[in-house]
Amino acid sequence: MRTEIRHLAAHAGGTVELRGWLVNKRSSGKIAFLQLRDGSGEVQAVAGRQDVTDAAWEAIQQATQESTIRVVGTVKEDRRAPGGVELHATDFAVEHLTEGYPITPKEHGVAFLMDHRHLWLRSRRQHAVLRIRSEIVQAIRDFFYQREYTLIDSPILTPAACEGTSTLFETDYFGDKAYLSQSGQLYLEPAAASLGKVYCFGPTFRAERSKTRRHIMEFWMVEPEVAFLEFDGLCELAEEFLTALVARVLERCGQQLAVLERDTAPLERVVAPFPRITYSEAVNLLNERGVPLAWGDDFGAEHETRIGEEHGRPVMVTRFPAAIKAFYMQPDPEDERCVLGLDVIAPEGYGEIIGGSQRIHDHDLLAARIDQHGLPRDAFQWYLDIRKYGTFPHSGFGMGLERFVSWMCGLDHIREAIPYPRLLHRIYP
Ligand code: 4AD
Ligand code: MG
Repeated sequence: MRTEIRHLAAHAGGTVELRGWLVNKRSSGKIAFLQLRDGSGEVQAVAGRQDVTDAAWEAIQQATQESTIRVVGTVKEDRRAPGGVELHATDFAVEHLTEGYPITPKEHGVAFLMDHRHLWLRSRRQHAVLRIRSEIVQAIRDFFYQREYTLIDSPILTPAACEGTSTLFETDYFGDKAYLSQSGQLYLEPAAASLGKVYCFGPTFRAERSKTRRHIMEFWMVEPEVAFLEFDGLCELAEEFLTALVARVLERCGQQLAVLERDTAPLERVVAPFPRITYSEAVNLLNERGVPLAWGDDFGAEHETRIGEEHGRPVMVTRFPAAIKAFYMQPDPEDERCVLGLDVIAPEGYGEIIGGSQRIHDHDLLAARIDQHGLPRDAFQWYLDIRKYGTFPHSGFGMGLERFVSWMCGLDHIREAIPYPRLLHRIYP
């Protein structure tokens, strides 16, 4: 009976057929140990010389790393085996003999692995990361579905900037200029006036001319936007969202976290309420901790890392100077120099994972901010309309999926958090 490795335990005592690839083998004249994978998992198959035909034994001898194989065997429970089972092979065939697979069990450099990303995906670690990523995407969709949000797909080709003009990817649009979307937010706000609670979740693009462990050019962002939600409610939503996602990863991804040797203790500590500090308090803290920052300057990576280390839990930093934030943020009623912006900074050096704000809902103020930021008023006329026809206070945030995946998986670099990373000077494969 054909089955998948992940379901083998249910077939204990029975005979099954698997199709997949050979990871590794050890063989003597009498017995062979074959490490197999089929996409759903890995299992060891044991083949005794006496238990298989001559042809099958010959195929076992020939099989190389990453050859496509088919194996028939009986499923034996084995407490010591990773999945609790082992396969005792009765038949074995090579369906495609692989020669010279480039990624061998020895250590390879990052550049080499990145050049072979299409093959690197097969490795145990990458498999685990991609499974966790998929679980997180499902958890995000479930979170909003259960809370009665409506999914709104924002466009990828856009006529204007959302998050500043310095990181735009420009493209020709039948003789006009278009840009790859930096964020779906501007398109969500009108949808919030139609559907109340909405979110978008799709690829976004930033031409970041810097090489860091936290930046990629193409990343997936999930963005909720809620009508009549004000700043305090926004902070609560971000907190509830993050704690729900971390709990889901801990609940469902134990096996993959173990493959990645992720210490889960820091993740267990991600429970509400998160510490909340204002930007001004953060500046004081940084100056006390010996990572100086002048009031009015934006955080750099080392500042974020230091803030994130303070509590060993995500920290919510609020009320930033207007000058370092996007044009659409609502002024802080307590300090006219500041806006009601929120950044959530992850512990363990993962930096900003969420950025959000309450939005300006006054038409004239927003128009003035568009002008002050040197943005073309024409391109934003439709966005201003939302403040002209039944305006309403509203708030939202964006979370970069790969930042969150990196944090959950304990990755050293964000490039492993997406199947095909787009990095500075790298678009292959
Ligand atoms: O803080 P950002 O720029 O906020 C926005 O785009 C808002 N329009 C979102 C909103 O309010 N709806 O980006 C949001 C998040 C960051 O906190 C970070 O997690 C991620 O997007 N991000 C990146 N992730 C990977 N690589 C990059 N180059 C990223 N730039 C931002
Ligand atoms: Mg930000």
